[in-house]
Formats: sequence, structure tokens, C-alpha cells
Amino acid sequence: MTTVVPPPALPRECTFDPGDWAILARHWYPVALSREVGGRPVAVRLLDETLVAYRVDGEAVVAHDICPHRGVPLSLGGGDGAGITCAYHGLRFGAGGRCTDVPAHPAAKIPARLNLRTFPVVERYGLVWTCLRPTDEERRDPAAVAPVPRMAHWDDEGFQRITCPSIDIAAFAGRQLEGFLDVAHFGFVHLDSFGDPDNTAVPDYSPVRHDRGFSVDYWSTVSNYARGGPQAPPDFQWLRHFDVHLPFTATLVVHFPGGGRLNIMNAASPVSARKTRMFAPIARDFDTDGPVQDVYDFNRKVFEEDRAIVEVQKPENLPLDPRLEVHIPADRSSIAYRRGLRDMGLSHFFTA
Ligand code: FES
Ligand SMILES: [Fe+2]
Repeated sequence: MTTVVPPPALPRECTFDPGDWAILARHWYPVALSREVGGRPVAVRLLDETLVAYRVDGEAVVAHDICPHRGVPLSLGGGDGAGITCAYHGLRFGAGGRCTDVPAHPAAKIPARLNLRTFPVVERYGLVWTCLRPTDEERRDPAAVAPVPRMAHWDDEGFQRITCPSIDIAAFAGRQLEGFLDVAHFGFVHLDSFGDPDNTAVPDYSPVRHDRGFSVDYWSTVSNYARGGPQAPPDFQWLRHFDVHLPFTATLVVHFPGGGRLNIMNAASPVSARKTRMFAPIARDFDTDGPVQDVYDFNRKVFEEDRAIVEVQKPENLPLDPRLEVHIPADRSSIAYRRGLRDMGLSHFFTA
């Protein structure tokens, strides 16, 4: 008689509260840049799960980074675009994670149990997205139904699409995303990029809830131009439109003088409860023939300024109980964000 052993419910060395993990694992997150996933296997991590990503005939595959034979990470092996090969006994895995070769027994039929445990994949905004606990439908037809956060303008004509290199942050994704929504820190943290130390007052704004999170129209005179770069007309009112897709993604459309728009997505992928890989696709309809390296550099500068703050915040997790930190009126987005996470059922992010 064979006994079917279910896969373990939680990753080894899970840093999340088990209840929180189960909720977060139902959502979709980017795990790699599309251009970084090729024929050779690459190791990535999501919610403490060790994963391997590779391509077969151009199709991205995301699977558990554990060989079903003797548990060696597949990311240590090789690959050639037609499949990957385990470093220990050379088992080969192809499209959909199917085992296609067992070199020790070249003529034997290969049991399905040697196939990899895979996760559904969608490629969008130059990123490979996956989900650890998908619905049956998301597994069957991810391209049609995966609730990957929407990014306005990415597919619009006239917009340049730029997928910046990812940035690793030693902090919780919720803290990082909250920092992206924070409009009171520009004149203190971003002095080398775009912030103005003489323009720190925060005009009123109101988050508006929607079914995936909330959005905010934030009007202020804080310029988004790099310091030392072009000047906006005096008293120009900059509109920053934030759109939050719970739990850890937001987009920000900045409306420039002359009507230009820049949309930046902050997709904070939760590597663990203490580590985040931040992905930032950008779409813009001005300077569209400018060098992308300049955009990468400016983006990195801004996010490095944020990283210095988010890595030292205590507690490391995000306190969802509103009484645990003190709020000022400028924090309406942060308060709406924490409420949104609480409404998802996440209640244990405060672990001091
Ligand atoms: S452990 Fe991978 S082939 Fe044996
Ligand atoms: Fe910032």
C-alpha cells in the first residue's frame, strides 16, 4: 500500500507566523527579472520558500529548489534552454518541471513522482511573478486570471518601459512599502536625489479605498526632478497618484510639468519576514530615448536613501495595532495601509 505524504505546509525555517504565511502565500509576487532567467537555473526565495527559476524553449518555470531524488538544490546544477540537470545524479527536468531523463536508468519509464513541484508563472512588466498557494484556476490558466497588480501606462503607446535592477533590502516588505507611500520624508531623506529641505509641509490628502487596496491623489509643490536638473515653473502643483495593491505593491504616477507622466511600481517581494527584494518597473512618456542606465542610477539612488531608513526601523515588522506607534496627519496613507493589512486577516506583524 502506498501512503501519499502531503508536502509540508510551511517552508523550512519559516520566519512568519504560520497564520500570516498562509494568507500571504495566496498572493502573487515577482521573484526575478525576466531578463535574469535563462536556460541555467537561478535560485530565488519567496516567503522563506527556496525556489529555482529557469527557461525551457523560452517559457519560464518556477519550482521548488529541491531535487525530488535526494534533495540537492537544482540551482547548483546546469541548464541549456531545453532543461536543467541536477548536480548530483544528473536527473533532467524540462517544461513544466517534468523529469525527462534519469541517467542511471536510461531505458526505464520515469515515474511522475520525479517531476518537480512547480508554481504557476506570469511574466509582466519585465518580471517573473508567481504564487505559492494558487487557486486551481490560477494554476490552470495563470495568464488569464492571476491577480498581478495593474500598472497604468505600461502598455500604452508612446511610453518607454524600463525594468530597473532589483534592490535587496534587509527589512520587512511592509515597512518598505509603507516608506514608498510616505510623503513627509522627501525633504529629509531624499536630499541627494529630489527632496527639498525648505519644502517639508504636507498638504492634506485623503486615501480612497478600493477592492484591492486604496488610492491617493497627493498634490504638493515638491518637485520630482533630480536636484540640479530642470526646474519646474514656480508654484507648480505636482500630482502624485498612488495606487496600493495589498499586500506589498504600489504604483506611483507622477504628473510632470508639460503633461509628462512617469509611473513607477514598487513591488516589494517578501523574501522572508526580514528580507525584501524590491522590483521597480517604470513607464514614462518623456525622455523616451534617454539612456536607461540614467534611470537605473536615479532609481537606485532614491531607493538606497530609503533603504538606510527602513533597515533601522524598530520593531522590524509593521505594527498593525494603531496604538503601537504615534501618528501625525501626514500619515493617512500609512494608516490606510496598516488597516488594509489588518483587514486581510494579518494581525501578527508586531513581534517585538
Ligand atoms: S539528488 Fe538530484 S539527481 Fe540525485
Ligand atoms: Fe522615499
